[in-house]
Amino acid sequence: MTSIDRDRLTALVERERAAYAAAHPRSRELFEQATHLFGRVPMTWMAKWAGSFPMYLDSATGNRVTDVDGHTYVDFALGDTGAMAGHSPKPTVDAVTTRMGALGGITTMLPTADAEWVGAELTRRFGLPLWSFTLTATDANRWAIRLARLATGRPKILTFAYCYHGSVDEAFAVPGPDGTAVPREGNVGAPVPIHETTRVGEFNDLAAVERELAHGDVAAILTEPALTNMGIVLPEPGFLEGLRELATRYGALLMIDETHTISTGPGGATAAWGLQPDIFVIGKSIGGGIPSGAYGISHEVARLITSHPDADLVDVGGVGGTLAGNALSVAAMRATLESVLTDEAFVDMVELATEFTRGVQQAIDTHDVPWSVTQLGARAEFRFASPAPVNGTQSRAAADDGLEEYLHLYLANRGVLITPFHNMALMCPETQRADVDLHTRLFDAAVRELVGSEPV
Ligand SMILES: Cc1ncc(COP(=O)(O)O)c(C=O)c1O
Repeated sequence: MTSIDRDRLTALVERERAAYAAAHPRSRELFEQATHLFGRVPMTWMAKWAGSFPMYLDSATGNRVTDVDGHTYVDFALGDTGAMAGHSPKPTVDAVTTRMGALGGITTMLPTADAEWVGAELTRRFGLPLWSFTLTATDANRWAIRLARLATGRPKILTFAYCYHGSVDEAFAVPGPDGTAVPREGNVGAPVPIHETTRVGEFNDLAAVERELAHGDVAAILTEPALTNMGIVLPEPGFLEGLRELATRYGALLMIDETHTISTGPGGATAAWGLQPDIFVIGKSIGGGIPSGAYGISHEVARLITSHPDADLVDVGGVGGTLAGNALSVAAMRATLESVLTDEAFVDMVELATEFTRGVQQAIDTHDVPWSVTQLGARAEFRFASPAPVNGTQSRAAADDGLEEYLHLYLANRGVLITPFHNMALMCPETQRADVDLHTRLFDAAVRELVGSEPV
């Protein structure tokens, strides 16, 4: 295995930072002028992009983004799945333009006929029979967690170390030395000590799940079918079946969040792997970029919820939001699911991700670096560990800020974006083989320079 020379890495990062700064004077100017924004950006995580300031968006279409300095990029970040349908897909733009303009009525508090179509389509894809809409996946998780508590009469959620389900208080937990939940580092403003709301285990560890469920206070196991927010961590054979079985045995609900893992296929991992969640959550991609999200529940969960006549489900009981399910959001979901993220579109997207993964693996092998690459349908991600991590804590330990910054900047300086959070690349219906080949060439060149001996 080739070990990474950290001095060489530092020199390469400095070279790439200088090139980035020189190529983005207008972005830098806008960033420096942004004195009325907390952290100088509209949302603090936008500071996560490599370089000492983010590039500013001018325009985007399909899988191309153009910045205000006039550079156009092949975009594999795709809004961290928010733009998995591609940027401004025509059917979605047409539907929202019609709703906003010709028809009018972006938010009226009245249902539209599109909603039932979307509900039926979500049932076709994911199996759950009854749906409610939200504007974000975070909200879908938050509201569904409340319903899970109501349905079971239990207080806690069981999650996995280094999971991410949006800004959901219950999910920022890692196991402490005795297995009790402790807050993940950096957790901001927790309302109560996390062990009061959460039980936690490691992904792929059924013994830990059973140990935590045995306390009898878990309303729901909340998980992605494969972790995607600390690199991709795939489930080992039998793990997801084990979760289903343990949830049933210990009277907890199984809540599957497919906000990212919809990359697995048109019905997510739930359809591809035959999962049987009691509650299902999705957001981001299904509105083609317009704020949208949804949660689905089984008939049994619906029965348990409605067996509480005192629970206020229509006003201020703690589930729902004024703009959730608005006509614009629902029109966007319908158009995106009907005409953009179709079953057929996934075929090419997955094929391209396979090719992307092959290219990265080839560079890893050629240069003998101790890294791995993992594919999940239309998504792929490389990680600075080999073999690939099998749980969140292992995957967290494989993070390397220096390597990330180098690779992200190397690619961006040559016209390719991957997600600013770790090393994820996603295909959309507009992604072409030539785009993947460009990444393959650049990734190989970046690693070649990293392990090489030519002067930087
Ligand atoms: C699995 C999962 N669930 C939920 C969310 C939250 O999505 P949003 O930020 O759109 O609310 C994310 C965001 O990355 C996610 O990865």
